[in-house]
Amino acid sequence: ATVRPGSARHVVITAGPTREAIDPVRYLSNHSSGKMGFALAAAALDQGARVTLVSGPVALATPPGAQRIDVVSAADMHREALRLAPEADVFIGCAAVSDYRAAEAAEHKLKKTAGGAPLTLSLVKNPDIIADVAGLTPARRPSVVTGFAAETREVRRYAEDKLARKALDMIVANDVSAEGLGFGSDDNAAWLLWRTPSGSASDHQPPQPKTQLARVVIQRALALLPG
Ligand code: C5P
Repeated sequence: ATVRPGSARHVVITAGPTREAIDPVRYLSNHSSGKMGFALAAAALDQGARVTLVSGPVALATPPGAQRIDVVSAADMHREALRLAPEADVFIGCAAVSDYRAAEAAEHKLKKTAGGAPLTLSLVKNPDIIADVAGLTPARRPSVVTGFAAETREVRRYAEDKLARKALDMIVANDVSAEGLGFGSDDNAAWLLWRTPSGSASDHQPPQPKTQLARVVIQRALALLPG
């Protein structure tokens, strides 16, 4: 994407979980609260950016000034993210996207199996939203693409792999096995890893409120913008 001198930076953020329908009344999802993504939106607004928040189903108020686009499934989020990416300077994938969806969502409510036989659900892989955004042609790709990684061990190593594999510019990796941090909580600790002209650099952020960590992440992402 081209940087327009003098105009506010446009930051597009995905947040929250996605829901993948199994039938009209059931879905697959995860425990993401959306708090980190919404905190990033608020921090970006604070720093003068224009913010578009693509959010899965969450119980959070929209930060005043953000444009919010509500989505349900990974397919919806993928479509909206790719539509918005060419006009974004910074893209941050903070959503906990469901890795799989039902191969076919049933048209009618599934019935219990006869005699208690096991029910088998076929799942297919969802598209990797952030990898697709990072893989856009230079004319359409946001200048800074930042991902998140939730790991329970070897946080830094897996984050480095992910940075390279998904062709990201920065990754924020947190240890979700640590008590009181990560999913649903108000605090987070993280490694920030980003690309530099000569390789990569990193910064460890100790446990702190997600609102504070969000400020650090946004400052770093904006600092990586050219010009
Ligand atoms: O591969 P993993 O799910 O651990 O990567 C996490 C990062 O990738 C997050 O930034 C998340 O928002 C993004 N992601 C995505 N689409 C997926 C899966 C993950 O954008 N289908």
